Amino acid sequence: MESSTRKAVTPKEALNDLENKILVITGAGISAESGVPTFRGTGETWQGRHFTELANPVTFAAEPRLIWDWYLYRRNVVAVRGPNPAHVAIAERARRVPGSITLVTMNVDDLHEQAGYTDHVTHYHGSLWHNRCTACGLEREERSLAYADLPLSPCCGALERPAIVWFDESVSTEAFCRTQIGLMSADVVLIVGTSGAVWTAVQYAGLAMSRGILTIMVNLEQTRVPSHYFLQGKAGEVLPELLGGA
Ligand code: OAD
Repeated sequence: MESSTRKAVTPKEALNDLENKILVITGAGISAESGVPTFRGTGETWQGRHFTELANPVTFAAEPRLIWDWYLYRRNVVAVRGPNPAHVAIAERARRVPGSITLVTMNVDDLHEQAGYTDHVTHYHGSLWHNRCTACGLEREERSLAYADLPLSPCCGALERPAIVWFDESVSTEAFCRTQIGLMSADVVLIVGTSGAVWTAVQYAGLAMSRGILTIMVNLEQTRVPSHYFLQGKAGEVLPELLGGA
């Protein structure tokens, strides 16, 4: 395969070249080995409802208790899970050259942070551990694992919702801009554990390739996310080898 990056290199060489800037985009697959269900896998339905119906503002408007219970269930799942070797490999690679990685995750868990990734993590689809006021939009960290009564915002006294980007909603301008900036400065784009069913990874991978940026995809199975290199396998096995030094 020919790439138009500065040097003809293997994925491992490119990712361990300490002069390279790397944009990393992660999806649910990176947390699978930690025991967090993927969406298009064991997490597809909950109490007989499909996740596309649950991650949805229309359903929240009609059944806020149901939606909060789903997110409380997910908080309880993540609360007893820890990072796996894939999260750790990214954190360790970032430590070698501070500022060399832009990390964007579609995951709402905090396993990258728990793995010791200390730079900013862009949570493209929001955070499981934040609530948003439905009146003014103010977000606050909130780590409760149960609500006897649905949470009200301290700012407006209005119902709070999970601070998550649901279907038919837009990502935040900040998340979008941080990802664009990461892409503009990237020498390598590494995409891990996403099906490509939502547009995010497909779009950024396509943009990266059109700009001649070396694009590497790690996943259990081939997806529609385009890449120069597709490395098939478990993220927890592939990433430590790939990022572990040349
Ligand atoms: P999906 O559940 O759609 O896809 C997970 C991908 O990870 C699949 O392609 C699996 O083959 C792969 N996978 C599973 N285990 C893996 C492992 N151990 N190592 C590597 N790959 C593995 O998750 P996403 O693509 O992240 O949005 O889903 C994107 C968005 O769709 C989510 O953020 C969510 C959902 O709608 C919201 O909830 C807003």
